[in-house]
Amino acid sequence: MEKTILDYDTVALDDADNALVIIDQTKLPEKIELLRLHTAQEIWDAIYLLQVRGAPAIGVAAGYGIYLLANSIDSEDFDEFYKQFCTYKQYLDSSRPTAVNLSWALNRMDQVVCRAHEAGSTVAQIKEELRRESIAIQEEDIAICRAIGEHGLALVKPGDGILTHCNAGKLAASRYGTATAPIYLGQERGYGFHVYADETRPLLQGARLTAFELQSAGVDVTLICDNMSGMIMKQGKVQAVFVGCDRVAANGDTANKIGTSVVATVAKRYGVPFYVCAPTSTIDWSTPTGDDIVIEQRKPEEVTEMWYASRMAPEGVKVFNPAFDVTDAELITGIVTEYGVARYPYTESLQEIRQKMQ
Ligand code: MRU
Repeated sequence: MEKTILDYDTVALDDADNALVIIDQTKLPEKIELLRLHTAQEIWDAIYLLQVRGAPAIGVAAGYGIYLLANSIDSEDFDEFYKQFCTYKQYLDSSRPTAVNLSWALNRMDQVVCRAHEAGSTVAQIKEELRRESIAIQEEDIAICRAIGEHGLALVKPGDGILTHCNAGKLAASRYGTATAPIYLGQERGYGFHVYADETRPLLQGARLTAFELQSAGVDVTLICDNMSGMIMKQGKVQAVFVGCDRVAANGDTANKIGTSVVATVAKRYGVPFYVCAPTSTIDWSTPTGDDIVIEQRKPEEVTEMWYASRMAPEGVKVFNPAFDVTDAELITGIVTEYGVARYPYTESLQEIRQKMQ
């Protein structure tokens, strides 16, 4: 049988070649092309250019990336090793600001180094520990997304219409995705969902990635422009919205792809439950509210020319291009984590989830 996009790993480690292997998501859906990344600059560029993107996938790539870079450090002296490790870590961390999984994965790897050093490990042993941890980050991601899928599936019924924004699918994680996990599990169990994928201007993750991966999985998916969600909700075609997230503040305010807060506002207007699917690695307990989340600003060309055969906006026009927006906690019906569903007010319910993590 011919391979589909679902047969490829979004992110993988090739130990033999000391390479981080990713699907180049900027080429999808036209071409499935794998990139083999070796240097810090290559990994940084791949994250910045969205060749690998989506919060969990960025975390997995950062884990493998920092392991490979640490492994390439040519010193047995811990102080020298750690100095170079921290330089690489800081560099990778600067590639994108909003998805907390990037710094979360890098800090987790840093803790491995510090713990192993305190326990008396050599640099060679520390490298091996880093390898194990990076693999664990990816394996956990798969299990976490599946658990999110089970909790999410319990919120909907067979035959429901489900709307999603951007790509919080397999291509944004390792398997199942977050917002797509209930959809994939429902598909396995014959739920017959009708999925609406927002195209997601300006980088079209919904059209290029979500529609592509769901169609490849045989899901009944319909692509809509971002400005159509109000109409289909008013028509009663959507029974639930599932979206992913890049950073959830401690009060439940949630940063996700630009346009998400519009979908949440419209869903509230039409009484459609709006769920954020959030692995706990995406909850930033140190960020009190959405106002404290740094929103990535990207190049104007993404709005004025990218994906068009020729430039479609006047030269020199002012462009505002934030990659994410923040959905207010009170617009969110539930935050679906691997430990269960948190409900408003999130300041308390997220703390209950946090206790389950211990
Ligand atoms: O700019 P991107 O494509 O990295 O943005 C991705 C999103 O906003 C996703 O919804 C989010 O990272 C969750 S992915 C499970």
